[in-house]
Amino acid sequence: SMAAAAPERVPDMEKRNLMNLLLLGAISLPTAGLLGPYLYFLVPPGSGGSGLGVTAKDALGNDVTMSGWLKTHQPGDRTLAQGLKGDPTYLVVENDGTLATYGVNAVCTHLGCVVPWNKAENKFMCPCHGSQYNNQGKVVRGPAPLSLALAHVDVTDDKVVFSQWSETDFRTGEEPWWS
Ligand code: FES
Repeated sequence: SMAAAAPERVPDMEKRNLMNLLLLGAISLPTAGLLGPYLYFLVPPGSGGSGLGVTAKDALGNDVTMSGWLKTHQPGDRTLAQGLKGDPTYLVVENDGTLATYGVNAVCTHLGCVVPWNKAENKFMCPCHGSQYNNQGKVVRGPAPLSLALAHVDVTDDKVVFSQWSETDFRTGEEPWWS
């Protein structure tokens, strides 16, 4: 299962970048495109030793592509997609118009309501008991005890792929409670 994480201590992103650099350094540029699927197979995005990611699905159940998503979602947008284990997960468009490399799991850490994005307040605000999270999903008001879970977002052949986030939570500097 996705939770079967290997006891890896090396930060996954660094490891992957290093491996890609090593591999890309060993081949000529024109063949890089052909090797894309091979690299993906060898080093799944954000795997953290936990296996392949899942392609994000939109509200209609179609695969999310980065080009399509960025055509229809403005800078600052946070819109739900279907994520790991089917969890509703926000894709974030950064203010510079790029797709964020993290997704925000919308399941409230209090009692599990799906937390809507409130653009006017620049927060995720839970309608059930009033918990609030900042624009990256870090908890700023209870009763929720914890920040919203993160997932990695990678793009492979234009497809947007979620995978397990098992490294430090960049919002809190703490180990992730969800993995
Ligand atoms: Fe979100 Fe209670 S379920 S505040």
